[in-house]
Amino acid sequence: MSRIHEALKKAEQERAVSQGGSAQPGYAPTETSEPAVRTIQQEPAVTVTAGMPAAGGVPLTSGMPSFGSPFSLDALLARCPQLEWKPDEKTMLFFNGDDSSRGTEEFRTLRSRLYHTREKMTLKKLLVTSALPKEGKSFTAANLAQVLVRQHGRRVLLIDADLRGPRLHLMLGTSSSPGLSDYLQGSNDEFSIMQRGPMDNLFLIPSGDEISDPAELVANGRLKFLLQRVEALFDWIIIDSPPAVPVSDASVLAKTCDGVLMVVRSNSTPVDLARRAREQFPDQALVGVVLNGTDGESVPYSRYYYAAYGKNVTDSKAPGK
Ligand SMILES: Nc1ncnc2c1ncn2[C@@H]1O[C@H](COP(=O)(O)OP(=O)(O)O)[C@@H](O)[C@H]1O
Ligand SMILES: [Mg+2]
Repeated sequence: MSRIHEALKKAEQERAVSQGGSAQPGYAPTETSEPAVRTIQQEPAVTVTAGMPAAGGVPLTSGMPSFGSPFSLDALLARCPQLEWKPDEKTMLFFNGDDSSRGTEEFRTLRSRLYHTREKMTLKKLLVTSALPKEGKSFTAANLAQVLVRQHGRRVLLIDADLRGPRLHLMLGTSSSPGLSDYLQGSNDEFSIMQRGPMDNLFLIPSGDEISDPAELVANGRLKFLLQRVEALFDWIIIDSPPAVPVSDASVLAKTCDGVLMVVRSNSTPVDLARRAREQFPDQALVGVVLNGTDGESVPYSRYYYAAYGKNVTDSKAPGK
């Protein structure tokens, strides 16, 4: 049985036990039958990972996007606005200086699994998605970005591409604009939308001003251009997305990324919808599943389950157990 199958199955079993899980309002499942979950057997495409850009002070060289003459990365990044963030202390786990606090170990485990996957494929631009709203995509994306940047010299860009229900600016306690929608509409350049906060080397592109046509904006090609412009500056780019089942944005976004991380919420995500979400993405794009097993804030953050994609990945134990 594949790891992803196991994760989906586990989520479904827990939902059945609790009988408390339900789909989000407005996104209720229309199908009640649950065809067998497709087992994933193929290996992901394996590409040798290119060397990561060294942190700090590296001059732009040929092959990288040109921003004019000649800047160091540090000089370019200094053009990004530095803002005072007020992160939500309960859910933003790495801002309080205590890296052993509840939930942090699971994110370290997730980080090491992603590095393990990265040995087998190019993996820098990672989309975080799930079937439905409120399953923990933004929570996972934000904490993953933080744990990645805790490693010395790593530079991480976190992008709020959920233009329908942006949350990252609220979680990090900062302004939502200027941001992605402003760039996609052509009213801002890349550096004016990349915020720096109190955590060294963590950059945020918030959602930007509210817009009426998120699907068209996300698909207009400028996001790909943005990523081409900035990706050489970062070790990881983590993209928070809208839910995959009700709207098509996530599958459009996935085409600009190297991999997709699927969040499944324990006691909540119906397995048929998790499967439908998973089918929005090609097999080789799906790098893993996170079972976000907590229920609100009352249960410790102790039940993440990361299932790496690919049959030769053997460690499927839930981290922290
Ligand atoms: N493991 C968790 N522990 C505590 N709170 C969580 C956890 N996962 C999600 N939440 C909270 O649940 C709410 C919904 O999560 P969010 O990440 O915004 O969902 P999504 O991005 O999938 O819509 C947020 O308030 C978030 O902080
Ligand atoms: Mg979200």
